[in-house]
Amino acid sequence: MEENIPAAEPEDEQTLVSPAVKLIEQEEEVFQHVNNPVANLKPIVKKYLGSPGRVQQRGSQFFFSDGDATVEATVVSDEIIRIRMAPHSVFLEDFSYAVPKIDHKASVFRMEEDEQEYRISTNTVNCHINKTDFTISFSDIQNHVTSRDAVPMHWEENVQFGGYYVFGTKVCQPQEAFYGLGDKPTDLNLRGKRLTNWNTDAYSFGWNQDPIYRSIPFYISLNEGIAHGIFFDNTFKTHFDFGAEDRGKTSFWADGGELQYYYIHGPHMMDVVKRYHLLTGTHPMPPLWAFGYHQCRWSYYPESKVHKVAKGFREHKIPCDGIYLDIDYMDGYRCFTWNRKYFPDPKKMIKELAADGFKTVVIIDPGIRVDDNYSVFKEGKEKKYFCRRSDDYFMEGHVWPGRCQFPDFTNPEVRTWWGGLFDELVQLGVAGVWNDMNEPAVFGTGTFPDDVRHQYDGYRGSHRKAHNVYGMQMVRATYEGLRKLMKNKRPFTITRAGYSGVQRFTSVWTGDNVASWDHLRLGNVQCQRLSMSGIPFCGTDIGGFSGEPDGELFTRWIQMGTFSPFMRAHSAGDTKEREPWSFGEPFTAINRKFIELRYKLIPYLYSTFWEHHRYGFPILRPVIMQEQEQLLNQARQDEFTYGDKILVCPVMEPGQQSRHVYLPAGNWYYYWDNEKIAGGREVPVATPLETIPLFIKAGSVIPEYPVMQYVGEKAIEEVRLNVYYSDTEANSFFFEDYGETFAYEQDIYSEKKFVVNGKDTLLTIQQSMEGLYTPRYENYHFCIAGLPFAPAKVMADGKQVTEFVVTEQKCLEFKFSKNFKQIEVIAGESEVQLAK
Ligand code: GLC
Repeated sequence: MEENIPAAEPEDEQTLVSPAVKLIEQEEEVFQHVNNPVANLKPIVKKYLGSPGRVQQRGSQFFFSDGDATVEATVVSDEIIRIRMAPHSVFLEDFSYAVPKIDHKASVFRMEEDEQEYRISTNTVNCHINKTDFTISFSDIQNHVTSRDAVPMHWEENVQFGGYYVFGTKVCQPQEAFYGLGDKPTDLNLRGKRLTNWNTDAYSFGWNQDPIYRSIPFYISLNEGIAHGIFFDNTFKTHFDFGAEDRGKTSFWADGGELQYYYIHGPHMMDVVKRYHLLTGTHPMPPLWAFGYHQCRWSYYPESKVHKVAKGFREHKIPCDGIYLDIDYMDGYRCFTWNRKYFPDPKKMIKELAADGFKTVVIIDPGIRVDDNYSVFKEGKEKKYFCRRSDDYFMEGHVWPGRCQFPDFTNPEVRTWWGGLFDELVQLGVAGVWNDMNEPAVFGTGTFPDDVRHQYDGYRGSHRKAHNVYGMQMVRATYEGLRKLMKNKRPFTITRAGYSGVQRFTSVWTGDNVASWDHLRLGNVQCQRLSMSGIPFCGTDIGGFSGEPDGELFTRWIQMGTFSPFMRAHSAGDTKEREPWSFGEPFTAINRKFIELRYKLIPYLYSTFWEHHRYGFPILRPVIMQEQEQLLNQARQDEFTYGDKILVCPVMEPGQQSRHVYLPAGNWYYYWDNEKIAGGREVPVATPLETIPLFIKAGSVIPEYPVMQYVGEKAIEEVRLNVYYSDTEANSFFFEDYGETFAYEQDIYSEKKFVVNGKDTLLTIQQSMEGLYTPRYENYHFCIAGLPFAPAKVMADGKQVTEFVVTEQKCLEFKFSKNFKQIEVIAGESEVQLAK
């Protein structure tokens, strides 16, 4: 479907024709006679925009034409401008799976022109359209140019497709670095790489393999300490070249569709990520249990095995919340069925597991077995819900169940049907759904043929256009269905494939990795990259999916996984048992210690997730995001912060006993002994198997829950608040709610803000609260580390706290009401004198 430039509306439209520029001349047509076969007709190669001679304004949209092509510039917000280009002035209808709704937020904007350019300006950004060559650039209000076309936007004929490749090419600055693009298994900085987005089932992928499972056509550029983002919202196969072919050019192009991109202003990388989330949405709050440890394997069956694994956790006193059923729970891999030999009474099993604190998550793939005795297939076939080829026959392909047909998840009616299919699973007590193979994967050929038709929410498309969104629409159907069926409960979903915006429906894992040290390093970078690319709830298959880790590798992976937003161990069917106790001591004890740490930090992670959900912050933040002006940080990809308060550096080498860790500027505390260390430098840290480098930022307040075997095992009697002294003011947040409903959408939550500020002889902690939820526990247990003085007196809301101790670790500990407004820790008289 196509859309012409909107018809004139007298009030808000202005047409300006600049006398300074000439409209491009229409090329003279060459007529060919039928009896004169065309032998030397060449496809259109690289057709560039001419000069913009005509401008039309309609509200916040500006249309520039060279007489043939039209470029649209839309002011989305003060910091976001969208550019679209239609080679022959016919735009596609304005529809996007990534950006559900463009919320025009710009307060003030204007268009000006002079001899050289048209200039659209908001309060923060200028978009310059050059009158001679139609190049587009962006600058800030200090007139610093952040992004500039190296050549005008252009297109080239894609002969097989009968349409165009569309291209944008920007100047690549000598020191410019690039981040983002989802799950690319390569270095964090994408400079010098050429990468493609085409969702691909990539079993045992390796470093630099491309493409793999997801398509996130969004990158962040960082040049001279200033960041901006480009989100190329095109679902066709897209390509990015970050100075690979030509050091001076950054290009992005697609095999079809429209050249449509959003320029997202910084100047901070964090601003760019937040604004990208404004467009594509954030992750809804997951159920609290989803932040616990998850155990998966291909596959745990029969039922007795599932119980044995579950019991193993309780016997070994290793916390666990989620247990997964991979494809073997089904009858001949038919989705929404059960293998009754292995699982005679799923309801009973799920209930027993739940009684022991386990949530059951089941896998559901898109391939529906062609079998007229199978109700899902029969119904889908009758209602014509499966994808068809262009010649109108249903498309078939081979996956786990054998011959399959595949629902067209781009059809809203199919999504509703699919969502309803979960009814029985929900009745049985299933708490979460794992969508796999949804690139979509087809054995042998890899995926669907290009000519498969998709409904594309009424906008129609071939598989070329729908391929990259297929998995996202599948998990959307799953999530929306579960959400309806579970009434007010939050569903848990996880997907392998996805496109920008997929975070509105699901968590992800990085796919079929390998049990190797190389893959541990890779997973670390991938999770950081996913976080910066708008996918906050991500994790790797801990231990590596294929191959055999030894105890050391598995433990190092558990340690890293403790600080992945999503924490799940998974392994392929032909590997040895892979539970946290499978490797014996000392590994079991260390694995337990870290999984326990995961549970202690759940309130911190949950609060960080709330910051993501509400404000668009990522969970993992590479050090370059902390200090983007430091050139050296561009190469630092081992360490990251978990939220903004805990710096983590996983150990990723076998036998490593120590390593250097860079601490961003400011003061830090070594988590394991509270030693205070000044940042802005690299520090050596011992890395025996029992620990990994963990540092807490000075001024932080980190809430901790008591260790439980699963979320909700016991009522929380008090919350520990670990406070780290700082001589400058620092803020922390603490979010709590029921943890399983959508009541937070009605403000039923509690968001607490702590402000910590230290002087030579005084530390103050202030608390303010927002929201309507009141947790059941009464008190906080304060543990204050790093006081530069001996505490003599503790005052809480004007009352003296008489019971406090200073522990061996030099922590000041006492208890006080969770509703406190202000705590003051005061030094002894002599110190007060000294300080004077
Ligand atoms: C795919 C998934 C993997 C799963 C397997 C069997 O390879 O990536 O996680 O275990 O299929 O369902």
